[in-house]
Amino acid sequence: MTKSNQVLIFDTTLRDGEQSPGATMTHDEKLEIAEMLDDMGVDIIEAGFPIASEGDFNAVSEIAKLSKSATICGLARANYKDIDRCWEAVKHAKSPRIHTFIGTSPLHRAIPNLNMDEMAERIHDTVTHARNLCENVQWSPMDATRTEWDYLCRVVEIAIKAGATTINIPDTVGYTAPVESADLIHNLISTVPGADDVIFATHCHNDLGMATANSLAAVAGGARQIECTINGLGERAGNTALEEVVMALKVRGDIMPYTTKIDTRKIMNISRRVATVSGFAVQFNKAIVGKNAFAHESGIHQDGMLKNRETFEVMKPEDVGLSGTSLPLGKHSGRAALRAKLNELGFDLADNQLNDVFVRFKDLADRKKEVFDDDLMALVSQNDTEEDRLKLKSLRVVCGTDGPQQADMVMEVDGADVETSATGDGPVDATFNAVKTIFSHRARLQLYQVSAVTEGTDAQATVSVRMEENGRIATGQSADTDTVVASAKAYINALNRLLVRREQSEPGYDVKGISYKDAT
Ligand code: KIV
Ligand code: ZN
Repeated sequence: MTKSNQVLIFDTTLRDGEQSPGATMTHDEKLEIAEMLDDMGVDIIEAGFPIASEGDFNAVSEIAKLSKSATICGLARANYKDIDRCWEAVKHAKSPRIHTFIGTSPLHRAIPNLNMDEMAERIHDTVTHARNLCENVQWSPMDATRTEWDYLCRVVEIAIKAGATTINIPDTVGYTAPVESADLIHNLISTVPGADDVIFATHCHNDLGMATANSLAAVAGGARQIECTINGLGERAGNTALEEVVMALKVRGDIMPYTTKIDTRKIMNISRRVATVSGFAVQFNKAIVGKNAFAHESGIHQDGMLKNRETFEVMKPEDVGLSGTSLPLGKHSGRAALRAKLNELGFDLADNQLNDVFVRFKDLADRKKEVFDDDLMALVSQNDTEEDRLKLKSLRVVCGTDGPQQADMVMEVDGADVETSATGDGPVDATFNAVKTIFSHRARLQLYQVSAVTEGTDAQATVSVRMEENGRIATGQSADTDTVVASAKAYINALNRLLVRREQSEPGYDVKGISYKDAT
């Protein structure tokens, strides 16, 4: 099946991406990202690992029910229980897929303590079982790139005979290199009986920074499905970045004559949304979606760009969904102008959501002369809700060169105002201590990250805070022209999300703040 020049895009942001420590998304966030992936033309969405938890199962089945044109896939280990659970979740989709895998390299074979023959038999049985449930079955030999090539050929043949319709070749630890990646796929396609009847996929990790190159090389070798994530989200150094492979194929069609169905103008929006909900900010100089990917600062570059943009740009910002113009809004702009601008940026908000954003916009416009596109996106990305148990009411911080700094705070806890003063080593430390005094907790701060949304001293700061408690992780975000206020709100936002998670995983838990406090 390598004759077609269409490369299928298999997005695993919600499975391999979400699996990366700290990138946990809520149920609603997963549904939202899945809808965006479907809308942008992703062929297959790997929505989760249904046996992993109730939450994963529910997310995969809901995404399956809501799917429009994408195939919805779930992951399952090589056992009947996993596969049955996976089928239960994906079967609601118009086009469901079961993805089952087992580690085939010597190191991975040692874990279930199976010899080569026993593993071959397990592969035959589990793929047959999956195929009896679902017509569309993907099989992956995990750590394929460190598996003996002859054994790999043998097990791929078994999986094809047992009914797999897609064979995925994972570079699980980001070990391969482009020449080898192309050779491996080419070798499998040219030697394994039945290889012409299935699609070969490539799934690369980025440990050596070669995931994009290895995926494209695999396509040259005959793969017709690339597995990837938005922003390259994923464990360790991440997975192949969707935006990179898709734009590389689009821009270099002259030497890589393959097409994808992706509407590339939707890339920026989903990239920002994934960064927000995962709490993994995109590095400034990241290819395609980094803040500086289309910025030209040096004199020579700016001069060249003004004469002919092609001197320093291989693609147009509009191609990835960056609007060419960036006319700022101000405090006199009304609701209609805000709605039009948000639509232009790709946000289609319901009336009540628009009202919330409008209130925040007016508040910001009172403090900041010009409200830019990036400011608006930061406002839309804030996810505090009316239901939040903890709310910041007021904050005053006293700073001085000879410290300690002091934070006077009023916070609403389950509807009642609580007031405190706390000191700390710097204004943020004092503020976080004040939150802890009002709402005592054992959650550990894993990450505190500040970045400026736009230039200038009146720029908003966006703050991400990641907290961990008993293995549960939650990320909070906020933006404000005052960095300390943004930090307090992000910290409180993370605590609110941690509380929701705690209530979800410990049903029946008394949600009246006092028991949380007592428990610590
Ligand atoms: O990296 C990997 O090997 C995987 C498999 C489960 C496909 O993610
Ligand atoms: Zn992976």
